[in-house]
Amino acid sequence: MKPFIMDHPLIQHKITHVRDKNTGAKEFRELISEIAMLMCYEATRDLPLEEVEIETPMMKCKSKVISGRKLAFVPVLRAGLGMVDGVLKLVPAAKVGHIGLYRDHDTHLPVEYYCKLPSDIGEREVIVLDPMVATGGSVVDAVRLVKEHGAKHVKLMCVIAAPEGLALMEKEHPDVQVYCAALDEGLNEDAYILPGLGDAGDRIFGTK
Ligand code: PRP
Ligand code: URA
Repeated sequence: MKPFIMDHPLIQHKITHVRDKNTGAKEFRELISEIAMLMCYEATRDLPLEEVEIETPMMKCKSKVISGRKLAFVPVLRAGLGMVDGVLKLVPAAKVGHIGLYRDHDTHLPVEYYCKLPSDIGEREVIVLDPMVATGGSVVDAVRLVKEHGAKHVKLMCVIAAPEGLALMEKEHPDVQVYCAALDEGLNEDAYILPGLGDAGDRIFGTK
């Protein structure tokens, strides 16, 4: 499935600030959360609606509410945690699962260390959250894990992606719609995204 690249001016403006190396941890966190909230608006555009009858102070009328499957957000630790606040502002009733993965320094391959998902994940629309898709190994594994736990409807929201990572997602999970705020040039020899924003986990949590 073709990735959906978000070109909304508000998102592009905030991306410029998160890329800037002079942006400190507090502002970085706030921006990632705001970008996630704006992206979630688009990623939930196809949620099904049903009509209900309500009474306004003036009269009875028919109006729409979200129907059908409920949502689950699944951040990939650590950096995906930075997106959770933003998406929960829009969908406060969603459940949240967690997948812990880190990239091995030498092989750049993901190593799984944690997985806790809602027991009813099979009945939910699942949106996996990770701000960075570099080689794509981490999100491909995260999506595989949620599918192995029964998820049938999965989307991925990332802030910055490299073409290599999106190509791997398309190859391994062609059924998953990817929402991405910026498609960058490529990877350096350490598999970091160029121009990217550096190490998202370190910048969110002030480590390093
Ligand atoms: C980062 C990022 C992704 C992964 C992307 O996490 O949040 O999960 O790297 O790289 P990939 O597409 O090549 O797999 P990292 O491994 O640095 O872990 P951290 O968030 O715990 O620091
Ligand atoms: N993980 C990050 O946080 N940044 C990159 O550029 C690549 C992987």
